[in-house]
Amino acid sequence: MQEYKNLLVETRDKVALVTLNRPKALNALCSELFDELNQVIAEMDNSKAIGAIVLTGSPKAFAAGADIKEMCNTNFVDNYKNNFLGHWTQITEARKPIIAAVNGFALGGGCELAMMCDIIYAGEKAVFGQPEVKLGTIPGAGGTQRLTRVVGKSKAMEMVLTGSWNLNAQDAERVGLVSKVFPADQVVDEAVKTGNKIASLSQPIIQMAKESVNQAYELSLSSGLQYERRLFQSTFATHDQKEGMTAFAEKRSPKFEDK
Ligand code: CAA
Repeated sequence: MQEYKNLLVETRDKVALVTLNRPKALNALCSELFDELNQVIAEMDNSKAIGAIVLTGSPKAFAAGADIKEMCNTNFVDNYKNNFLGHWTQITEARKPIIAAVNGFALGGGCELAMMCDIIYAGEKAVFGQPEVKLGTIPGAGGTQRLTRVVGKSKAMEMVLTGSWNLNAQDAERVGLVSKVFPADQVVDEAVKTGNKIASLSQPIIQMAKESVNQAYELSLSSGLQYERRLFQSTFATHDQKEGMTAFAEKRSPKFEDK
C-alpha cells in the first residue's frame, strides 16, 4: 500500500482504516494532509475489496482544525481565487460509507471533517467545538451549516458565537451528533466492526441507502420521499435484492455479489 506523509492507511478485512498522522500538530489539517486524504478516500471508494472507510486521529486529537500556521498569512484575494477549503468537500462525494472514530479534540475543521462523515463514534473524552471566532474568523467547512442542522440553532449559535462552549462526547450523543460513545481505546475497533458489518452487505444497495439518507439534507420531504421511492424501486434491478429476499424466504444467509 502507498505511503503517505500525513496519513496511515491499513485494511482490516473489508474496511480501510485511515489515521490522520500529524500527532505533534494535533492533526492540524494542512493542505498536504487534505490532498492525501482526498486521494486515499477516492482510491478506497474505487476499490472492490473495500466496503467502508474508518477515519480516525490520535488519542489526543481527531483534528484540532485547519492548520492555523499555514493559513495565518494568506489573504482574501488568493483564498477567493483558489477557492480555499473548496477541495475539502470532495470527501462528501465518496459513495462508500465513512465512519469517523473520534478521540480527543475535534475542533474547527476537525469537527467539520467528522460531520462530513456518515457516522460518528466518539471516545468518552472526545470534545467537539467550533473555536474559529477566537481566531477572528468563522467556520469555513460546514460548522455553521451541518452543525446547525444536527444540533439546532441555539446550541450551534452558542458553540459558533462563543467559540469556547464545546460539546463533550455524552452531550454530542444526546443531541444526535454522535451515534455511540465508547471507552477511548475501543472506539476505533468498534468503528471497524460496524464498517465490516456494513461491508458484508450489498455494496450497491448500501450506496443507494447512503445516497438516499443524504438527500434528506438537500430536498423537501415530498421530493425526498419520491427520490427514496425511485431508488427503492431501482434496487429491484439488482441481483442482490433477488438474493436477499430469496434467502429470507429460504431461511438461509444471503450471498451478496453485486460489486
Ligand atoms: N493549527 C496549527 N497548529 C496547531 C493547531 C492548529 N489548528 N492546533 C494545535 N496546533 C499545534 C500547536 O501550535 C502546538 O504546536 P507546537 O508544539 O509547535 O507549539 C501543538 O499543535 C500542540 O498544541 P498545544 O500546545 O496548543 O496543545 P494544548 O493541549 O495545550 O491545547 C488545543 C490543545 C486546545 C486544541 C489547542 O492546540 C488549540 O486551541 N488549537 C487550535 C484550535 C482551533 O482554533 N481550531 C480551529 C482552527 S481554524 C479552522 O478550523 C477553520 C475552519 O473552519 C476550517
